[in-house]
Amino acid sequence: MINVPIITIDGLASSGKTTISKLLSHHLGFYTLDSGVLYRAFAYIKTIEGVDEYTTDTISRIINKINMVPTKTLGFDIFYNKNNITTHLYNEEVGLAASNISKNEDIREGLLSIQHGSVQMPGLIANGRDMGTKVFPDAMLKIYFTANIDVRAKRRYAQLIESGSSPNLENIRKSLEERDQKDMNRDVSPLKADKDAVIIDSSALNIDTILDKILGLYKISRV
Ligand code: DC
Repeated sequence: MINVPIITIDGLASSGKTTISKLLSHHLGFYTLDSGVLYRAFAYIKTIEGVDEYTTDTISRIINKINMVPTKTLGFDIFYNKNNITTHLYNEEVGLAASNISKNEDIREGLLSIQHGSVQMPGLIANGRDMGTKVFPDAMLKIYFTANIDVRAKRRYAQLIESGSSPNLENIRKSLEERDQKDMNRDVSPLKADKDAVIIDSSALNIDTILDKILGLYKISRV
């Protein structure tokens, strides 16, 4: 992990972390770790396997069968039991279930090694809730994203429409609010800005302005 440049992007659900991570990845040629997908994978596996309770054994059995495989587009696909489950993970139900299970300390600890295993040259953009505070505390640049709830709900709504779903804006708003509360108030690795993080409110900024700002910060952090 030493010498591999890492940029962490933490923040609220639908605050623009994934979009900016992809743009940064495109500009810098770095891989993107979308860490939420690992918690989503756990939530999804729970339903397909009918897991009632997470014991230490169940958790390590599941973790041993999860693999993250780098993609040509500099992201990672998630495999469980050698099956690619990535496309099943991006819906709001799985997101909420992921938020529920993400307070489990053993799951968080178990997923650390998978996240550390994603570090590779030429660099990594790691986004999530605790990338700067817990998973990559020595990252060269830490960003914390925030945006107001209406802007985030509309963004999420537009994404779901684009992916062919028929979402309800008010339900999305409620689900995001519920997730924010859970993510910020859990005991283990709660969502918060690291003391070294640069805070960016994306509500009123366009994506190119945010990209320029982060690329500028990255340049400064290298000298
Ligand atoms: O970023 P996301 O919406 O895909 O994340 C889904 C849930 O996973 C989120 O509500 C909380 C949890 N999560 C977490 O606890 N820690 C992370 N680093 C990333 C996500």
